[in-house]
Amino acid sequence: MLVLGIETSCDETSAAVVEETGDAARPWAIRSNVIASQVEIHREWGGVVPELASRQHVRDICGVVEKALADAAVGWTDLGAVAVTQGPGLVGALLVGMSFAKAAAAAANLPIVGVHHLAGHIESLVLHNGELPLPAVILVVSGGHTSLYLVTQPGSYELLSRTRDDAAGEAYDKVAKLLGLGYPGGPVIDRIARQGNDTAIRWPGTRLTHADRNAPGLKGDLDFSFSGLKTAVMRHVTLLREQGVPLNDQAVADIAASFQRVVVKTLVERTFKAALIHGAKSVGVAGGVSANSRLRAEMRAHGEAREIPAFVPDLSLSTDNAAMIAAAGLRRLRAGITSSMEMNADPALSL
Ligand code: KG4
Ligand code: ZN
Repeated sequence: MLVLGIETSCDETSAAVVEETGDAARPWAIRSNVIASQVEIHREWGGVVPELASRQHVRDICGVVEKALADAAVGWTDLGAVAVTQGPGLVGALLVGMSFAKAAAAAANLPIVGVHHLAGHIESLVLHNGELPLPAVILVVSGGHTSLYLVTQPGSYELLSRTRDDAAGEAYDKVAKLLGLGYPGGPVIDRIARQGNDTAIRWPGTRLTHADRNAPGLKGDLDFSFSGLKTAVMRHVTLLREQGVPLNDQAVADIAASFQRVVVKTLVERTFKAALIHGAKSVGVAGGVSANSRLRAEMRAHGEAREIPAFVPDLSLSTDNAAMIAAAGLRRLRAGITSSMEMNADPALSL
């Protein structure tokens, strides 16, 4: 079966065609994956402006889908289903993809399946690497999320922990803004940190020992928190300014490297701690921040040291894309799940 995937949850308009291979170990292959990034539009404002995002999705969606079909050399009649991100995300942005997907499915007489955005990120690992050894502990780390999931069966995702405040990607973006490095912050900090001394400033990582009153189902000890680190960076920069210390390239690189060391250390340690607790046979990291070079390297190194294979998606599948949505959609379709036309975009959809 060929599935058209559609993703518009944030600031990328994406459409993709993914096909089933018939190989159970490597179930899906990408025929096309088209992404129209809005980063140039939002850069001016230092972050994603929801209303501008929705409007740009409206402008781009038709062309992006046409290109995805053309790149895959398929027409509407070749498709078996449409998969679309239902949530979470920006509601106005989600609505564009949802409306388009419903209209297309109705016109082409195709089944439609709603997909959770994070299920998409998790399945990006399978799309790129094939089925993972299960149980697997998966870290989903992006601009909106930092969560650990336990996958015991393909297509089942059990939440183990999440951030109590900022997502790691959000912390990257805010620290970059503070340092005057522009938007999005992740890729610049990743690059600049290579020139910095990562122990120039020894910020501590946050360790949570108590349960979160707002999440009674979770133990809490595997939770994340990044807002304290962000504040610590802000205080440090303010202090340097007050003392008249110039924030030159080297000072900025040192801050970036020191910040990144703490973030990556926290992410890696907690992922492998969860893996140990749950007897995981593999770990994975997906989502925008999984593009981070240090995180990828440290995940792999820890995996080798602990003899637990660590998987990352291809860089092109780390940030938001529709191929992962089509893949997660195929997973649901093969489990006998389709959605009704009554389905709506849900900005707070839970997995
Ligand atoms: O998954 P994604 O494309 O969108 C969300 O669902 O949020 O993730 C975007 C986030 C942004 O916060 C961006 O700064 C971060 O991923 N990011 C990175 C890198 N590339 C993107 N963070 C750290 N290092 C990178 N190389
Ligand atoms: Zn995402």
